[in-house]
Amino acid sequence: MKEMWNERYGAESYAYGTEPNTFFAETLANYKLAGNLLLPAEGEGRNAVFAAKKGLSVTAFDISEAGKTKALALASANNVSITYEVGDFLKMDFTTSSFDSGALIYAHFPPSLLSIYHQRIVELLKPNGILILEGFSTNNLPYREANPKIGGPDKIEMLFSVEKIKNEFPNLEILQLEEVEVELNEGLYHQGKGKVIRFVGRKKA
Ligand SMILES: C[S@@+](CC[C@H](N)C(=O)[O-])C[C@H]1O[C@@H](n2cnc3c(N)ncnc32)[C@H](O)[C@@H]1O
Repeated sequence: MKEMWNERYGAESYAYGTEPNTFFAETLANYKLAGNLLLPAEGEGRNAVFAAKKGLSVTAFDISEAGKTKALALASANNVSITYEVGDFLKMDFTTSSFDSGALIYAHFPPSLLSIYHQRIVELLKPNGILILEGFSTNNLPYREANPKIGGPDKIEMLFSVEKIKNEFPNLEILQLEEVEVELNEGLYHQGKGKVIRFVGRKKA
């Protein structure tokens, strides 16, 4: 798994581009997010750098060393600084209830770990902290079959649905939750029409 990501990020171009995910960028503005932000599975740093440019204090991490190298290069090219650690979600030593917000952008984890990771990110949020999530829907599979360039997991257990999000995050108040058909233009690996789940939740105080 880690090798696959290091290989993908070892290329010169940015796998998912250098622009932030659209929903992530819109949500930062819509909810006027400020303070510190945690970005697990942040890959090559497109969202981290965007948030840092907006004045947030950004901590990101990923299992991929190559992702970190690209993210720090992107930060430097944009004259911002971010904290970026390499490691698996459960091994990261962050302080409970210490982040104003967090975002899981296309963070598709194996089914056996998904709920543990989700519970952990909620623990790391302060009371009233905001979680943003965008990921492929279970209904993305036919889109992927028609157009493999849209990307995303091919296993239904790794995909999201509105019901699944409700079950995964009982300690978050739902501010926004929907399944949307999108036209993605994110680097080489998210290209074309697909179905995603978009979620914004607030940690219950
Ligand atoms: C589809 S990419 C998304 C990257 C980034 N969030 C973005 O939107 O550009 C998924 C990322 O999850 C990371 N990842 C997978 N399992 C992980 C884990 N257990 N802990 C941390 N990162 C992980 C991969 O290395 C990869 O960078």
